[in-house]
Amino acid sequence: MRKCKICGNLVKTIVNFGKMPLANGFVRDIPKDEFKFPLIVGFCPVCYMVQLEETVKPNQMFNENYAFISSTSNAMAKHFEEYANHIMRDIIKGKKNPFVVELGSNDGIMLKHIAKNNIMHLGVEPSHNVAELARANGVNTIEAFFNKETAEIILNKYGKADVICGANVMCHIENINSVYEGVNVLLKDDGVLFFEDPYIYDIVLKNSFDQIYDEHVFYFSGLSISQLAKRHGMQLIDMKHQEVHGGSMRYYIKKGFVNKQSKEVDNYIEKEKKLNMDKYEGYVKFKDNVKNVCKDLKNLLVKIKKEGNRIVGYGATSKSTTLLNYAKIGPDLIDYICDITPTKINKYTPGTYIPIKSYEHFVKDNVSYVLLLAWNHKEEILKKETRFRERGGKFITFFPKVIVE
Ligand code: TMP
Ligand code: ZN
Repeated sequence: MRKCKICGNLVKTIVNFGKMPLANGFVRDIPKDEFKFPLIVGFCPVCYMVQLEETVKPNQMFNENYAFISSTSNAMAKHFEEYANHIMRDIIKGKKNPFVVELGSNDGIMLKHIAKNNIMHLGVEPSHNVAELARANGVNTIEAFFNKETAEIILNKYGKADVICGANVMCHIENINSVYEGVNVLLKDDGVLFFEDPYIYDIVLKNSFDQIYDEHVFYFSGLSISQLAKRHGMQLIDMKHQEVHGGSMRYYIKKGFVNKQSKEVDNYIEKEKKLNMDKYEGYVKFKDNVKNVCKDLKNLLVKIKKEGNRIVGYGATSKSTTLLNYAKIGPDLIDYICDITPTKINKYTPGTYIPIKSYEHFVKDNVSYVLLLAWNHKEEILKKETRFRERGGKFITFFPKVIVE
């Protein structure tokens, strides 16, 4: 048992996945000895935060080799354009010289729209390679992890921010208390902090345990975020559900405790309590569900293979590292995984060493079964792959249960 990273109380283990490699640790050559760490997810019964019990040092995950590039999905590009429009239309409209800061701005997928409108902005991004891509997109970017010290540097150079935001970044930051300390320094008194991350409610409902990997230190809910904000003298004022990443939640936070609060906050927290997410009991069944999905999927793949068919994976996602390693699905079952990300092609998946090939390779290949590892992009991918399905190709998906369609 470990201490909660937020409140210091003891965390109760939900699932122990055993030793896992880094989710984005795609390798050019099969290594003799790969870095692994114990992937264990637990629940704090005091502040309700679901979290990893053991973590990996940030610079081991986010460095010059970081392989995740945001702009690889049309749907995500659209999502972030809408995100930027939401900031301009609903949050900073009418403000004089507004200043927008994004944490974990990656290749500038969101901020480039803010930049295009000549709005003062700053991306805070620790990975050098993606920060460079953002600059090429016209996005002002500093290479740093966000905390109180970084906030002070930004404050001295640019002044206070009207908006501090992030998508799929807050849940990555182990010392999240330091982020809130930084927000308290940098955010204007009437400014808004908002961010979105995979929603633990969706993960539990869909069994989508593959969201659990080294980079995702926290799995937020309205319950846990309202507690966290309170600790730092802030208030959760709104929640908006997002369809991305298999179900995400956007949380809006303001300084002080007398802000107008949307009724959505109470509604979502009520729903979470109905699933018992404020108690350890709410997570007990999840462990069995995870095991059952893995067993069913592995059995199906073995059966398809035995019948003489080939199977390939679609999308070398970070999250598939947990699925493939935990369910023990390797190159004996999956010939290769196709992906459009240049930083992943011709490498191998972490821990399971399945080769990653280009999309063009897949298009020319006459394979009958595709394991949809990028299941969160199902709609976009199924639309794109009508030819594959017309010629009898089948997609295998697995959350909440295994389906061939
Ligand atoms: P994500 O689920 O973390 O967004 O990662 C999606 C991965 O799937 C990323 O490596 C890009 C890849 N991908 C494709 O190869 N083709 C596609 O059409 C889409 C939508 C994603
Ligand atoms: Zn706690």
